[in-house]
Amino acid sequence: MGYSIAIDGPAGAGKSTIARLVAREKGYIYVDTGAMYRGLAVHFLKQGIDPGDADGIAAACEDADVSIGYEEGSQQIYLNGENITSLLRTEEVGNMASRSSSVPRVREKLLSLQRDLARRENVVMDGRDIGTCVLPDADVKVYLTASSATRARRRYDELREKGVPCDYSQIERDIIERDERDMNRAVSPLRQAADAVLIDSSDMTIREVADAILALCRP
Ligand code: DC
Repeated sequence: MGYSIAIDGPAGAGKSTIARLVAREKGYIYVDTGAMYRGLAVHFLKQGIDPGDADGIAAACEDADVSIGYEEGSQQIYLNGENITSLLRTEEVGNMASRSSSVPRVREKLLSLQRDLARRENVVMDGRDIGTCVLPDADVKVYLTASSATRARRRYDELREKGVPCDYSQIERDIIERDERDMNRAVSPLRQAADAVLIDSSDMTIREVADAILALCRP
């Protein structure tokens, strides 16, 4: 078993930025489990499956093979052998990932992939259920959150910077809706593990959050 740092929290709390930074500074690999759910979501969208069709989603899992690789330290997602990393970051894929991740077959499919990585490597793994379900014995567990207003503002700034037209109130509504779904689903809901350290990043810089996490780790 490698050394593992589990970071869970809602969308937009800064998990991936922080996890990537901590991984780089510790020399561990960064595992973005949300990207794996997004990878399967791309498959469901390609098949034209409705996000509410749980049976169709479960059936479509049978001909989807998601795997992960690294190119210059950056995580790549492959769907049936094709690198689909550039397709993952759209709202459509995010919404499908959020909906389809409540289907037990979807979670089961990705669980072994995630555990296998943590068995072989030192990892910083981020997601929604890492400390509670995927790696209950993780060496360090963090629940990283921020207010919905802060998270919406960060997302808004990010989209504006990329030149994508967007509406702040709509983004905040989407974030609240996504939280609601991620926290209230029957299987592996987003929850703070009893032994996780809570960090609210609303008024913290990236550096401050990373340092708070590094302080919890072995030297
Ligand atoms: O972190 P993200 O936005 O890329 O994740 C996309 C969706 O995937 C998220 O809405 C919920 C789901 N997810 C999950 O259920 N469990 C994880 N460990 C990671 C993501």
